[in-house]
Amino acid sequence: MQRSVFKRSNGKDSTWIVITAIMGIAFGFFIGISFSSVHLTKISLLSGVKNSFDVPMSDISRSDAFFDVSSGTKQIEALGSASLPKINASSNPRGAESLPPGIVVPESDLFLRRLWGDPSEDIKKKPKYLLTFTVGYAQRHNIDAAVKKFSDDFAILLFHYDGRTSEWDQFEWSKNAIHVSARKQTKWWYAKRFLHPDIVSAYEYIFIWDEDLGVEHFNGDKYMNLVIKHGLEISQPGIEPNNGLTWEMTKRRGDRDVHTVTEEKPGWCSDPHLPPCAAFVEIMAPVFSREAWRCVWHMIQNDLVHGWGLDFALRRCVPQPAHEKIGVIDSQWIIHQVIPSLGNQGQSENGKDPREAVRIRCRTEWAQFQTRLSNADKDHIKELNLNGKG
Ligand SMILES: *[C@@H]1O[C@H](CO)[C@@H](O)[C@H](O)[C@H]1NC(C)=O
Repeated sequence: MQRSVFKRSNGKDSTWIVITAIMGIAFGFFIGISFSSVHLTKISLLSGVKNSFDVPMSDISRSDAFFDVSSGTKQIEALGSASLPKINASSNPRGAESLPPGIVVPESDLFLRRLWGDPSEDIKKKPKYLLTFTVGYAQRHNIDAAVKKFSDDFAILLFHYDGRTSEWDQFEWSKNAIHVSARKQTKWWYAKRFLHPDIVSAYEYIFIWDEDLGVEHFNGDKYMNLVIKHGLEISQPGIEPNNGLTWEMTKRRGDRDVHTVTEEKPGWCSDPHLPPCAAFVEIMAPVFSREAWRCVWHMIQNDLVHGWGLDFALRRCVPQPAHEKIGVIDSQWIIHQVIPSLGNQGQSENGKDPREAVRIRCRTEWAQFQTRLSNADKDHIKELNLNGKG
């Protein structure tokens, strides 16, 4: 309504805006005489915000900013040309040293806000957790079923790899979800780019999940209760062993709520408290605490998009001993449906099947990641020794 009124006035009937402005000035003066300056500031600021949304700044009646902010004499605009104090706040984030620390906002969130009203009243309930899925439209019913297992404590963020986003609005929850679209990318590609720890710092835990998980036996709130109760920094739900691909560690145990250690095939684990026998979850459905995610995000490589090998390195990102902080929740479990999805989006290379080409890249990435990590360890240790700190 409002938008169309202003659009029309811009195009044809510019007298409309002049009349509004004049009435605004008159009204402002009248109010100004009758109320305290605190109220006035609020009124003029809010009307300024509303106007600027639909008409160019130059069209806004300057009278909107007539009223005083603090002392009763200066205009808001005049504050913009006041002389600046010399600031070099070295404790500010890098690049922001010239700002007074009190105005620096180094972290953000994904809370949706209104365009009107008092900003402090925008958000009725702040979600505590962030639930992300990397999805294609073909999996919408599976994702719809999954989302329904999570309460309003969870904010929902979908990464779309097939470019189809608005079609998801057939689901009511989609209208309150965040949608990020970039074609044919993997969930670790999205996570590296859109889940920077400073961006998602409002959330206590972050779910980074695949789209092909069956959630009939899963409940988000019950899962979180167990994660918190057992102090797990990195976790995943137990996986129903419906195929031979699952690691022993991540298989669901029927006789308990949580497990943190397991036994693998003979010879697989050099130590019972090390991966893949413990301190380990898969990259299919991990859940990170805010602190663990801050570390894991830094370990994700920009080019190694499949994230293979990351699972074995997660133990570097929790307080030691890692096997006490990484675990599998058995009583809230999921089924890995192994639906070919993003794997189908590959391209054949040298005459190979597209799925096979993706699989080969996954394995290559795993080797590359492992090499980079052990080289980084070696370089760091060498440096420490050189500096006499080793
Ligand atoms: C700010 O302070 C740091 C040291 O605290 C100094 O290295 C830097 O040159 C200063 N920058 C400016 C613009 O004065």
